[in-house]
Amino acid sequence: MRIGFFDSGLGGLTVLNEAKRLLPHEPFVYFADTRHVPYGTKSKEEVKRYVFEAVEMLESYDLKALVVACNTATSIAIEDLRAVYDFPIIGMEPAVKPAVESIKPLHKRVLVTATPLTLRESKFQQLVAKIDEDHLVDSLPLPELVEFCERLEFDEQVIVPYLKDRLSGYDLDQYGAVVLGCTHFPFFRDHFRHILPDHIAVMDGSLGTVNRLIHVLKERNALYDSGSSDIIWLTSGGCPEETEYLRKAWAILQKETPSNV
Ligand code: DGL
Repeated sequence: MRIGFFDSGLGGLTVLNEAKRLLPHEPFVYFADTRHVPYGTKSKEEVKRYVFEAVEMLESYDLKALVVACNTATSIAIEDLRAVYDFPIIGMEPAVKPAVESIKPLHKRVLVTATPLTLRESKFQQLVAKIDEDHLVDSLPLPELVEFCERLEFDEQVIVPYLKDRLSGYDLDQYGAVVLGCTHFPFFRDHFRHILPDHIAVMDGSLGTVNRLIHVLKERNALYDSGSSDIIWLTSGGCPEETEYLRKAWAILQKETPSNV
């Protein structure tokens, strides 16, 4: 049996990267919805339809668990998916909770970056309402980062000016943490680090999600602790060039540092 991973495109690779590090003996299947990426600027109804189409196709891979490695898809469809499928389904959540905990003693603020749809959705609003009693959390949509990532555009000369411009309205001295609330964004961790003052922590939800996955598999006695691991690469476009493109993005990620949350 395999662990399924799903995202609109390349973003979920950042979570798979963490999973592969902590679960070296598990076989995976990764699905990128290349025909419909990006999700974050589409309507809720469209995204829900795409997510169900994707999971229907992944289901045939004898899944022992599914990771919806996409904050946007999680906020739109996770409850509905769980109501339909029997295998455990683990979603993403912007790392607001650890970020708020980390800044409290410092009297600083948190900036959550994500897709416009994630930030608009009630799941995110409720999460913030629950955790952010002192109103220390601000949010910033960065949909262009998804587009850059999908084009494999990581050139500092392009990304750093873009981020500088989007962050120009913020007094960064007031902030203690920036949350990468979209799974595409950890591809740009170094670019964020380049701009942000050293005292600002850059946090994402990958490790939290993978720890949850491990917990769920342990509970079901379904963890493999020996044997060889492999990854099946799938895209909704289905052509060999797209598989190559996934492998290329995966190779880029292998050089990055693991997440810190
Ligand atoms: N990677 C996804 C997320 O975490 C979605 C990005 C997109 O398709 O807009 O939200």
